[in-house]
Amino acid sequence: MHNHFNKIKKKYFNNIGDKINLYKELKKIIDSLLVNKIVLDIGSGGHLFYDYSLAKKIIILDLSKTMLDESSNKEIVKVYQDARNMTKIKDKSVDIILIIFALHHINGKSYKESVISLKKTLSEADKKLLPDGEIFIVEPILNDLLFLFQKLIYKLTFFILNVFKTDMVFFFNEKTIKKHILSIFSNSNLEVSNIKINGWIDPLLGTFPGLIKIPSFFMPTSIKSFYVKKLGSSNSK
Ligand SMILES: C[S@@+](CC[C@H](N)C(=O)[O-])C[C@H]1O[C@@H](n2cnc3c(N)ncnc32)[C@H](O)[C@@H]1O
Repeated sequence: MHNHFNKIKKKYFNNIGDKINLYKELKKIIDSLLVNKIVLDIGSGGHLFYDYSLAKKIIILDLSKTMLDESSNKEIVKVYQDARNMTKIKDKSVDIILIIFALHHINGKSYKESVISLKKTLSEADKKLLPDGEIFIVEPILNDLLFLFQKLIYKLTFFILNVFKTDMVFFFNEKTIKKHILSIFSNSNLEVSNIKINGWIDPLLGTFPGLIKIPSFFMPTSIKSFYVKKLGSSNSK
């Protein structure tokens, strides 16, 4: 770990502007989901682009203290912790969990460790949610072929990013995320949707922000949302 986001915070926020339409779109969806609810935003990065005043309570959790400190409002509860082990959050205490553009940063030294991280994050989220809780995930997604290629070059990518003292990023395909959501949230409804992206985009925003910009149609990833609604107390573990 290089405390990566502590270092890139300024550049990250300077370059996020090209995703303004995407975040506007996400704001509409999220605002409608959080009314009067206890919300936990995992990997929030202090980037509160939605109207959290609609929520009953807002908790933001991140591994980077510098990112968390981006938000200064006293109403916001800040938790500095790893998403894979959220001991500071009480079990069955949250109505809705958001994980926005964070899963691809929660990984490990190998593909296997990345899948373990994904499973740990999802099962911790399940533990913290109330029996009829919801989870809304937004992720850049690779198609199956690019996903396979990225898997094959995992160790090489890890090595190169390590040389640049940058943390690993690993994008999942839709199938893998769906598979693990459905196995962890066994009694639940899952809806997967596409979210449009347009204009010129910084494809390396979370690794080397500000280095390049490309037209959105050249982006190797598509943006998908995964909305899960747990179905009652029979799902509580
Ligand atoms: C690309 S940023 C996304 C921030 C924000 N959600 C947004 O959409 O702008 C990813 C965030 O995930 C956080 N993160 C990375 N690994 C984490 C982990 N294991 N546990 C909690 N947060 C983590 C980073 O510190 C960073 O703030």
